[in-house]
Amino acid sequence: MRNMKMHFAAIQRCLLVQQCMGTSSVNVFTSVRKLASATSTCLKVCIVGAGPAGFYTAQHLLKSRTDVQVDLYERLPVPFGLVRFGVAPDHPEVKNVINTFTQTAQHDRCSFYGNVNVGKDVSVQELQQAYHAVVLSYGAEGNRKMGVTGEDLAGVYSAKDFVGWYNGLPCNKQLQPDLSCETVVILGQGNVALDVARVLLSPLDILKTDITQSALQALEASKVRRVLVVGRRGPLQVACTIKFLREMLNLPDTRTEMLASDFEGISDTLKDLPRPRKRLTELMLKAVKEAKEETDARKRWGFRFLRSPVEVLAGPDGARAAAIRLAVNKLEGSGDAARAVTTGQVEDVECGMIISSIGYKSLPIDSSVPFDLKRAILPNNLGRVQDTSGLYCSGWVKRGPTGVIATTMNDSFDTARTLLQDMESGVLDLSVSKAGSGAISALLGSRGVRVVSFPEWEKINTEEVRRGEVNGKPREKLLDVKEMLSVAWS
Ligand SMILES: Cc1cc2nc3c(=O)[nH]c(=O)nc-3n(C[C@H](O)[C@H](O)[C@H](O)COP(=O)(O)OP(=O)(O)OC[C@H]3O[C@@H](n4cnc5c(N)ncnc54)[C@H](O)[C@@H]3O)c2cc1C
Ligand SMILES: NC(=O)c1ccc[n+]([C@@H]2O[C@H](COP(=O)([O-])OP(=O)(O)OC[C@H]3O[C@@H](n4cnc5c(N)ncnc54)[C@H](OP(=O)(O)O)[C@@H]3O)[C@@H](O)[C@H]2O)c1
Ligand SMILES: *[C@@H]1O[C@H](CO)[C@@H](O)[C@H](O)[C@H]1NC(C)=O
Repeated sequence: MRNMKMHFAAIQRCLLVQQCMGTSSVNVFTSVRKLASATSTCLKVCIVGAGPAGFYTAQHLLKSRTDVQVDLYERLPVPFGLVRFGVAPDHPEVKNVINTFTQTAQHDRCSFYGNVNVGKDVSVQELQQAYHAVVLSYGAEGNRKMGVTGEDLAGVYSAKDFVGWYNGLPCNKQLQPDLSCETVVILGQGNVALDVARVLLSPLDILKTDITQSALQALEASKVRRVLVVGRRGPLQVACTIKFLREMLNLPDTRTEMLASDFEGISDTLKDLPRPRKRLTELMLKAVKEAKEETDARKRWGFRFLRSPVEVLAGPDGARAAAIRLAVNKLEGSGDAARAVTTGQVEDVECGMIISSIGYKSLPIDSSVPFDLKRAILPNNLGRVQDTSGLYCSGWVKRGPTGVIATTMNDSFDTARTLLQDMESGVLDLSVSKAGSGAISALLGSRGVRVVSFPEWEKINTEEVRRGEVNGKPREKLLDVKEMLSVAWS
């Protein structure tokens, strides 16, 4: 009798280990052997969102402990977040991180569950019951609003939607922006603003990577010749990096249209600037100087400074944007901390399209999870979500919507380290066994939600690459979730 009991316990432990190793075949004898080397407790961690933050958090956890199983849940049927749907088509080298993410997803102790909308299909509390720890890394799926009259007129877009459109984000498929105007005004002077400006002005051959075919056709027919990139503060506060400015200055058949008056006194400040800001400013000054001497280029672009949007003005039809009214600002204070204060003056700029690129914004996922509405992040301490034991966060939803992939990698490793510490220090109760994906799959099944596994995503990938070949591109993205699913499950 006692023997039987022990035997039964051993089998249970084996099954646990087997789940952890990602094997499904029940072979008690090999499992008993595995048991000798693996620890009996299998730690189950679930990560929400399969962008850079999700993958880098998973990578660090898998590397650091051999007894942890990591499950990634992703809303879309396809992984990689903004690496697929944000990074510009003329920066294909940035997307090489996908190779590392793929290795992580293919790890023995990692599983990908696509097509699962956490907060709708399954709650965060349900995930917490099924896992020892839950990491939220669901990014920033909203955008800041200008909050001005006329923002909803036709011809006004958020950069987030515009980028989603040319990069094939399913929810932006219908955007079909009207590119029949000559002048476009972009609000905001970050790297995203310059991504958009570049896509609008670039020769098509350098865009012809994984940009959608419909965006490529629209850009082919585009009448856009002039792009103004408008900032509320001055030249010393532009948010873009030098690489992006240089790319703008090097656009073929495009001259810069800056206002020399905007740069009065700027050269005197150079010597006191931190090095990256100094180099960026020097490059701008050089561009201003050379702009005078220029040429018969067909297209032009330029920064405009000290201007905040106050109203989008409609054309005669009352429906389409025809101009933007800008408040003229002055600066209070100096350096990065300088604030824009309106002078009371306004100025109208005619344009047929307005793109607001003033930042992305994270949204609450689930009423059970604390959310700092003012900062639009999950309130956290080194990645531990405030007041919620066992809940962690990484990436843009942890820090806010700034930083390159490398920043997101660092902060995801930090969160993984925090989680590992809590495992080691006993903050997390690891003595209980958790059902993990078994429990969640059952819940999802009962709700009629079918997941997309990583091999199923690879079928979508193969189909996209195949369709790309037809158009001479590395990939032609599927634009429709239904179509993705039918390819995945074919
Ligand atoms: C337009 C643009 C261009 C960029 N270009 C570059 C560049 O060239 N180089 C560079 O280094 N950095 C670039 N960045 C920055 C980089 O993309 C970010 O640092 C990084 O993607 C942030 O990672 P994340 O995982 O936090 O968010 P995301 O990449 O947004 O990933 C979040 C994931 O969570 C999923 N998700 C959302 N809600 C749910 C839910 N409810 N349930 C399940 N899953 C959910 C999303 O579908 C997404 O896959 C760019 C950013 C933007 C906006
Ligand atoms: N390296 C890359 O390859 C790459 C490419 C794309 C994006 N990214 C990164 O992704 C992150 C997000 O980029 P982003 O361009 O969206 O953000 P960002 O760099 O933060 O720039 C936002 C811009 O919007 C302005 N702004 C914000 N609120 C405003 C308001 N209410 N009214 C007027 N202007 C306002 C900001 O001006 P103020 O400074 O005055 O606030 C700033 O110029 C950045 O960290 C960026 O570096 C990196
Ligand atoms: C990431 O962390 C490393 C090591 O601490 C550091 O050298 C690097 O500058 C960081 N990168 C970014 C983009 O923050």
